[in-house]
Amino acid sequence: MVLSFSSVILVSVLILSYGVNSEPVQDKQALLTFLSMVKHENRVQWNSSSSACDWVGVECDATRSFVFTLRLPGVGLIGSIPPKTIGLLNRLRVLSLRANRLSGTVPTDFSNLTLLRSLYLQENQFTGSFPSSLTRLIRLVRLDLSSNNFTGPIPVGVNNLTHLTGLFLQNNTFSGSLPAINSDGLDDFDVSNNNLTGSIPYTLSKFPASSFAGNIGLCGAPLRACKPTYRKSSGLSTGAIVAIVLGSVLVALLFLLCLILFLRKQQRRPDKKEKPVTEETRAAPPAEAGTSSSKDDLTGGSIERERNKLVFFESGVYSFDLEDLLRASAEVLGKGSVGTSYKAVLEEGTAVVVKRLKDVAASKREFEMQMEKLGKIKHEKVVPLRAFYYSKDEKLLVYEFMPNGSLSALLHGVARKRVKE
Ligand SMILES: *[C@@H]1O[C@H](CO)[C@@H](O)[C@H](O)[C@H]1NC(C)=O
Ligand SMILES: *[C@@H]1O[C@H](CO)[C@@H](O)[C@H](O)[C@H]1NC(C)=O
Ligand SMILES: *[C@@H]1O[C@H](CO)[C@@H](O)[C@H](O)[C@H]1NC(C)=O
Ligand SMILES: *[C@@H]1O[C@H](CO)[C@@H](O)[C@H](O)[C@H]1NC(C)=O
Ligand SMILES: *[C@@H]1O[C@H](CO)[C@@H](O)[C@H](O)[C@H]1NC(C)=O
Ligand SMILES: *[C@@H]1O[C@H](CO)[C@@H](O)[C@H](O)[C@H]1NC(C)=O
Repeated sequence: MVLSFSSVILVSVLILSYGVNSEPVQDKQALLTFLSMVKHENRVQWNSSSSACDWVGVECDATRSFVFTLRLPGVGLIGSIPPKTIGLLNRLRVLSLRANRLSGTVPTDFSNLTLLRSLYLQENQFTGSFPSSLTRLIRLVRLDLSSNNFTGPIPVGVNNLTHLTGLFLQNNTFSGSLPAINSDGLDDFDVSNNNLTGSIPYTLSKFPASSFAGNIGLCGAPLRACKPTYRKSSGLSTGAIVAIVLGSVLVALLFLLCLILFLRKQQRRPDKKEKPVTEETRAAPPAEAGTSSSKDDLTGGSIERERNKLVFFESGVYSFDLEDLLRASAEVLGKGSVGTSYKAVLEEGTAVVVKRLKDVAASKREFEMQMEKLGKIKHEKVVPLRAFYYSKDEKLLVYEFMPNGSLSALLHGVARKRVKE
């Protein structure tokens, strides 16, 4: 009796402490501090009385003991990231702060995010040199710093990141020459629209010209060939080159002297002769790389590519445009009477369900009014509609992806009734 009584107590204590601990206390504090110090839009409202694991943009591990992913794309974050906030989430795997107005330098304590796999800081206003803290995050698989105001050289330390499959540094002001970045595992690489100079290392020449475009000083395959004097790898030292040039000039002068003497004898005016100039073969840069197949899967190629025509509803933290959606990797979930549904996973890992409607006769206005109603539905059994797209040829509905959501309801359900009515 005594034994079983104490086991009951033990079990209840365990349950209680599990209940209390099912909350990443330190991570929660770090997140609250972050949000209190950084200006943001109202739709990010983290309620300090509920578990951080249930907040928008936050996901925890299965035991709810630490924050696993933080995704706050396009939520109007303004200013610099204070130290001792996000840098304290040291079990973080995915961090997306893209498309905000974050500025200043990337905090040095990001070097503690050693488990990070994906870091998306693109489309902000970060300044300063390439953050040296990032070359310590050796588990990084995707690193996107594009469309910021980073300056200075790209450090050779990125070779520390041996798991990297995507490195995006375009649309900054990085300068200096490109280091010999190990590209063995690298599938995507982009340094276009920077201020880079010098020759492209052969390790990177397998990438298309579009990866390097917009750097006035960059040369070598896949861009135009470098001028011979820039080609340091040709084996000729500067001294040798100077000697050769001097030698040629001497020979030419000697030749000219002989010529003049000879022509004087002939009593004729000499013609001016020029040494032939060797013109370099200028390879035309190849056309831009092909588009991903998912683009065609999803749209049949018929969408007019107008940006920002996706209409979002206020709830939820989604920020992507049609381009992002078309770039997403997509798989067909099923075909129903109203259309086909796809699961689309955006580059940063956000998963959504895209439903492509067929045979919709509604005008744009009617359609938008129906969507407005659909977007307002809040019911635990109804998968929330987050955005829609309307064009003459294409109507798309974007739903939150719920791993256990009712797919058949999505395929055959509400939308049909409402749209067709
Ligand atoms: C925060 O959560 C608590 C408990 O879940 C709830 O009672 C309260 O209304 C919420 N506050 C806000 C501002 O949503
Ligand atoms: C990283 O974490 C360790 C241990 O948690 C801490 O001592 C150190 O100060 C942190 N480094 C930075 C740069 O914050
Ligand atoms: C960042 O670069 C953009 C465009 O190059 C420029 O308009 C903006 O002023 C820069 N911002 C900062 C903070 O340097
Ligand atoms: C490369 O990673 C190691 C191990 O994390 C670290 O000690 C070193 O400082 C890193 N090098 C650079 C250039 O960041
Ligand atoms: C980079 O800048 C170019 C021109 O300034 C712009 O057309 C392009 O969309 C930008 N790319 C990204 C990824 O922002
Ligand atoms: C580009 O780089 C050169 C040095 O390589 C520097 O002098 C120049 O100011 C840079 N331009 C910009 C716009 O940063």
